[in-house]
Amino acid sequence: MNEILKVIKGTKDILPQDVHMWHFVEKTAEEVFSRYGFEEIRTPIIEMTELFSRGVGDTTDIVNKEMYTFEKNKRSITLRPENTAGVVRSFIENGMYRQSMPVKLWYKGPMFRYERPQAGRQRQFHQVGVEVFGVSQPTVDAEVILVAINFLKSLGLTDLEVELNSLGCPKCRENFKNELKKVIQPYLNELCEDCNTRFEKNPLRLLDCKVEDCKKIYQKKEIQKVITSDFLCDDCKNHYEELKMYLDKMNVKYAENKLLVRGLDYYNRTVFEIKSKDLGSQNAVCGGGRYDNLVEQLGGSPTPAIGFAMGMERLISLLEERQPNLLDAYIVSKFKTDAFILAEELRGEGLSVDFEMGDRKFVKQLEKASKIAKYALILGEDEMAKNQISIKNLETGKQVTVNRADCVKMLEL
Ligand code: HAM
Repeated sequence: MNEILKVIKGTKDILPQDVHMWHFVEKTAEEVFSRYGFEEIRTPIIEMTELFSRGVGDTTDIVNKEMYTFEKNKRSITLRPENTAGVVRSFIENGMYRQSMPVKLWYKGPMFRYERPQAGRQRQFHQVGVEVFGVSQPTVDAEVILVAINFLKSLGLTDLEVELNSLGCPKCRENFKNELKKVIQPYLNELCEDCNTRFEKNPLRLLDCKVEDCKKIYQKKEIQKVITSDFLCDDCKNHYEELKMYLDKMNVKYAENKLLVRGLDYYNRTVFEIKSKDLGSQNAVCGGGRYDNLVEQLGGSPTPAIGFAMGMERLISLLEERQPNLLDAYIVSKFKTDAFILAEELRGEGLSVDFEMGDRKFVKQLEKASKIAKYALILGEDEMAKNQISIKNLETGKQVTVNRADCVKMLEL
């Protein structure tokens, strides 16, 4: 026997019995996002590696440890670990900055990160997300958070928590970083290796460390004093206050979390996550924030921007199981040629139809019909003789016999 090949660790098949849940999430995304004026964009799954080292940041775990990178024709190519950098590249390359602002885009698709697989964390996973370009006012920050919440509501997810923080601008953040480094310096040899690197390269990310010993050290009074200090400059403070005012007016509940720094380097000012208690340790369904410097950093002219992305596997794991779509009709008959012709006729009328191709007995065929279709169309000897069809409603059990020509009309009722 030949060896059976298996799916790669950290990746999963989406099987026919589950795909209707994905369709539901994708359809809801399209409906909700277009209500807010978003248009869909589809960018390639492979990009130049440099896009991510420059875009996501070469101090991040994503760029340092988690990218699927390979060389082709002496070029370094990477499977996208996220889609903000790709959308920004496309925004610049396609001159979208010439359109009237804001430019509002949404996307869905697979992303790749070489992380340790566990519940809620895969190496190939899917995101659905939005990006808005061209508005620096906090109205758009509030709108983006509202879009996320309304999308989740439309999926039936309401028991979620919004966490909010402002990282300030590069200027005010610089002071904060220096203060943080000052109080953390004495503990450096007690901190993990990653924290030591972060200390040098990106001290803000120290607050995101998951190692218990490090977390304990960051609880120390003098460190907490800096973490909880109000370091924002006047402009950033006003921006943050105004955002909170809008959220309050829209009755959006949120918790402020000074430790929320996000794992990607491009953020400034607003950052947010939406979390679920039902997800275990990988509890973030949504992460996002403002990235006002990224367009310029990737070669475009300065353009403020903000967005979010949600993990689709995590969303689906929170959803109640929904009924898969049923076929309109299943033809139950031993007259295969006639069943085949009728199926094609009805498909031509736009109905979804299948018929028995094997040699199963009438009862077995009807059993199958009741599992996968709304109606059974019975083409037995009597019906064939009179050019009729019996239509059985598989939900109510009611059955009527009609002339063949009236079948479509009956099914559409
Ligand atoms: P992120 O926080 O890295 O942000 O990812 C967003 C969401 O994707 C997470 O909250 C989680 O639901 C899901 N996710 C991330 N990694 C995995 C994984 N390995 N397995 C399953 N789900 C995962 C970003 O990617 C940014 N691009 C978001 C953004 C858009 N910021 C501004 N615009």
